[in-house]
Formats: sequence, C-alpha cells, structure tokens
Amino acid sequence: MTSEGLLAGERVLVTGGSGGLGRGICEVAAREGAKVAFVWKSNAAGAGETEAALRALGAEVLSIQADLTQPQAAQEVVAQVEAAWEGIDGLVNNAGFSEAVPFVLLEDEDLQALLELNLMAPFRLTRAAVRGMLRRKHGRIVNLSSITGSRTIPGPVHYATSKGALEAFTRSLAHEVGAYGILVNAVAAGIFEGGLKSTIPEHHQQRYLNACSLGRFGTPAECGELVCWLLSRRNGYLNGTVVYQEGGTLG
Ligand SMILES: NC(=O)c1ccc[n+]([C@@H]2O[C@H](COP(=O)([O-])OP(=O)(O)OC[C@H]3O[C@@H](n4cnc5c(N)ncnc54)[C@H](OP(=O)(O)O)[C@@H]3O)[C@@H](O)[C@H]2O)c1
Repeated sequence: MTSEGLLAGERVLVTGGSGGLGRGICEVAAREGAKVAFVWKSNAAGAGETEAALRALGAEVLSIQADLTQPQAAQEVVAQVEAAWEGIDGLVNNAGFSEAVPFVLLEDEDLQALLELNLMAPFRLTRAAVRGMLRRKHGRIVNLSSITGSRTIPGPVHYATSKGALEAFTRSLAHEVGAYGILVNAVAAGIFEGGLKSTIPEHHQQRYLNACSLGRFGTPAECGELVCWLLSRRNGYLNGTVVYQEGGTLG
C-alpha cells in the first residue's frame, strides 16, 4: 500500500467485489492506498481471491457476505464498515445483474427482482452511507451504470430501465448533497471483459466491437482507474455527471 496514493487513507466500500468490474475497482483502490471493504453474495471462491489480492497489495480489507436485495442488508453493511473504520469516504454501487430476455416475455417479477439489486440496493446503501458523509462534510459516491441507461442501443429493457433510473438518482442526489462536500457520479460502462459480458449475445458484442473506436472491450482495471479517480479528492468539481467509458463507440 502506498501512503501517497490517490486514495491514501480513504475508507472505500465497493459492492460486488467477488469478480468482474468490482474486483478491478477494489484492486486499484487498494493499490492507491485505500482501506477496502467489499460485498459479495454467493461466490465465496471469488471473494477469497479478491481478498488475497488486496492483502498482497498491503491493504486493510473487510470482506462482507450479504444479499443486498434484502432491505435491511444495506444498513447492516454500512454499520459493519463504520464500526470497523469509523466512517466511509467512498461508496461504489457496483453490484448488478442482467439477463437477456425479450421485453414481451418479461414478467413483473423479473423487473422487480432486477430493480431490487440494480436500483433499490444503491438507493438504500447510499442513504445509509451518506448520513456519516454529511456529518463529516466529505464523501464520494460512484454508481456503475451502462451505456444502455441513456443510449438507444440493444440491451434488455428491464436492465436499461434500472440503469436509466440509477443515472437520474445520481444527478438528483448530486444536486442535493453537493453543498456538503459529497460528490455523486456515475460511470456508464460499455462492454468489459468478464462478468455480465457473458449475458450479452455474441452478435451484440460483435456490433459493439465494430462501433468501438478502440476495437476491443474494456478491462476491469481500466474501470477501476476511472472509478478510483472519481472517488478521490482529486475530483473536486465533477458532480452529477455520467462518464461514458466505452472506448469511443457510436450510438
Ligand atoms: N461487464 C460489463 O460489460 C458491464 C457493462 C456495463 C455495465 N456493467 C455494470 O457493472 C457492474 C458490475 O458488473 P460485472 O460485469 O462486474 O458483473 P459480475 O461479474 O456478474 O459481478 C456482479 C457482482 O454483484 C454481486 N451480487 C450479485 N447479486 C448480489 C446480491 N443479491 N447481493 C450482493 N451482491 C450481489 C456478485 O456477487 P456474487 O458473485 O458473490 O454473488 C458479484 O460480485 C454492474 O452494475 C453492471 O450492470 C457491466
């Protein structure tokens, strides 16, 4: 751990840290000097790998198993981190889910289940974490969105709906808490290696690659770099913004 890193001494909570983009974010945060708490649900092996990687970087780590679709989980997770480290400086709402289902086949329950993780969990976690941030007059919140949230591109309708709402949440909250030193931003990700990429049909992946100026998918480490800058005190004037991280794609 570096004492002069971008996040030196910062206490960061990342949801969905057992793999995919979440692990990339956790690793960059640890390398940049943060204490890292991460939440996972079922992938114990993946959580163990993340924890080992963070410890190898010299970071203090909290690995928390929780089902964030349970309403009380958000408060419990935040309380656990605050009890250990007396506060949270940065929250990354990264845990998310998608599935390729045509709109006409979607049941109410499909939308409700997806919203519980992709929207309600960030809402509840942020509400729980922001109370301490308001007292300390400092905080950074980053929400993981998708280019489906605000662009007309192929993607599951219920997933796009959840990400569009998450972006509205980001902008509105940023306006309300900005005056207290709490900056709230979102990253609208294109397609990244690992994780939810496997839920995207091959022909949509190919179409994305054809439209992407870099001609490749992003990496979790690249996502981590951006998220950690947004979490850091070097970001002093970017608030309520959705940053598109998609290698320069059309659409
Ligand atoms: N990968 C992409 O191309 C891409 C593109 C655009 C946006 N995104 C966004 O980036 C974020 C991360 O995606 P990813 O691709 O890294 O996905 P991923 O590898 O599938 O990771 C999802 C994470 O969420 C956790 N999780 C799932 N259900 C949970 C629950 N009920 N309670 C607590 N944690 C839960 C998982 O934990 P367990 O595995 O331990 O259960 C896992 O750590 C998502 O918000 C996604 O929408 C990803």
